[in-house]
Amino acid sequence: MNLQGITFEKLLDQEEISEQIKRLARRINVEYKGKDPLFLVILNGAFMFASDLMKEIRINARISFIKLSSYESMESTGEVLELIGLNEDLSGQDIIILEDIIDSGTTVRKLLTELKASGAASVKLASVLTKKKTVPFEFPIDYLAFEIENEFVVGYGMDIDGLGRNLKDIYVRVAD
Ligand code: IMP
Ligand code: MG
Repeated sequence: MNLQGITFEKLLDQEEISEQIKRLARRINVEYKGKDPLFLVILNGAFMFASDLMKEIRINARISFIKLSSYESMESTGEVLELIGLNEDLSGQDIIILEDIIDSGTTVRKLLTELKASGAASVKLASVLTKKKTVPFEFPIDYLAFEIENEFVVGYGMDIDGLGRNLKDIYVRVAD
């Protein structure tokens, strides 16, 4: 598979992904029973995860979207831009952030800080992927589908220069 002149090979199959998403949904259904959580989706990358996860949620839940950007092509810029913000009252809400991948942690760190100051009743974090790190994050990833090596991936919502988000499987860059 080739995108933007870069070769990728399959890393995680749609069936494995689906199995893990269902497992996370089952845990959320139990742990948030009677709570009506608000799923806060970080666009663009988490749209596919959000759609698949929500279909497995059996408790009452709300969904809202925020658009953040920190990546340019294959690298983090270290700066998080808020392209579409939140316009609703979060006080008293039990929030579950949905992210596609946590790499340096910059994006999620910024959002966690903002949400904790918003009066939310609780804030938890769900992500499809995280990359192996030598120094662990100071925040927990409460619901995680997979941990991968420190490599660049596309598919299942994740992109390179906007491409690859439609792929059902997750692909990893092949070193050349
Ligand atoms: P962080 O702020 O460094 O944790 O990066 C998180 C954001 O960067 C994610 O929401 C993704 O949009 C993007 N990102 C990080 N790693 C990858 C990758 O391997 N492929 C595609 N996007 C990535
Ligand atoms: Mg993202």
